[in-house]
Amino acid sequence: MDDSLSRPPTPAGLSCYLAISQLLGLTVVAMTGAWMGQYRGGIAWENLLQFNVHPLCMVIGMVFLQGDALLVYRVFRNESKRSAKILHGLLHAFALVIALVGVIAVFDYHRKQGFADMYSLHSWCGITAFSLYFLQWLLGFSFFLFPGASFSLRSKYKAQHVFFGAFLLVLSIAACLLGILELLLFSIRTTYSSFVPEGILANVLGLLLVAFGLVIGYILTREEWKRPPAAEELALSMDFKTLTNGESPSSS
Ligand code: HEM
Repeated sequence: MDDSLSRPPTPAGLSCYLAISQLLGLTVVAMTGAWMGQYRGGIAWENLLQFNVHPLCMVIGMVFLQGDALLVYRVFRNESKRSAKILHGLLHAFALVIALVGVIAVFDYHRKQGFADMYSLHSWCGITAFSLYFLQWLLGFSFFLFPGASFSLRSKYKAQHVFFGAFLLVLSIAACLLGILELLLFSIRTTYSSFVPEGILANVLGLLLVAFGLVIGYILTREEWKRPPAAEELALSMDFKTLTNGESPSSS
């Protein structure tokens, strides 16, 4: 039998918003690369250029990949829940590794230059976002991918996981905005107010980061775009309710 006949198609509106999100995501990554390449001398793991690894890795990891990982359950609507979970976890892991390279780059750069560490609002928001993101990944892995966690424990933790998942994307984008402003003030303080191209590029980058977050938030909060539960998931949750509420399977 043709399996695709029994699967509900992806809503047209969802596909359109997903395409916009990917366009915005790729644009912010490309713009960060262009900013570092065109105006900040390029990217390398030595001398002053080592700093430039930081913004690029943070935008790729903490914004683009983190945002895409949140969309997995909306994109892969008809695949098994387990495959979607694994992909969701892998994308977050990939995002974390790239972000870790970005964090190491900036600390190493500060150490080599003899600069102070962790004095700015940007660095406080940034390290909070990164640390909580790592914690969220560890908890998500233990509760949802590790076979030991019970169904009841998973359903209790799920609401927190979803809330903090969205919050961490917002905090990461806020940290990026503060970082953009700080870098502009360090590098073009005297010419920023004359609308120089570098300032405009970085300001537009900030606006597009906000737009990316908004589109992801919109997709995630549209109730009718949520992933429809597969028949076996429904049956499992019914069995669980029956067990925990003491209802007999025949009661309504
Ligand atoms: C969520 C993403 C980001 C996180 C988690 C983050 C994290 C951090 C941390 C922890 C530091 C402190 C390093 C130290 O004290 O040695 C730092 C420094 C810095 N970051 Fe970011 N960053 C992010 C994105 C960005 C972006 C997008 C930019 C610029 C386009 C940027 C620009 C800077 C600058 C200029 C510094 C040096 C000044 C300072 O310590 O505040 N960051 N970042």
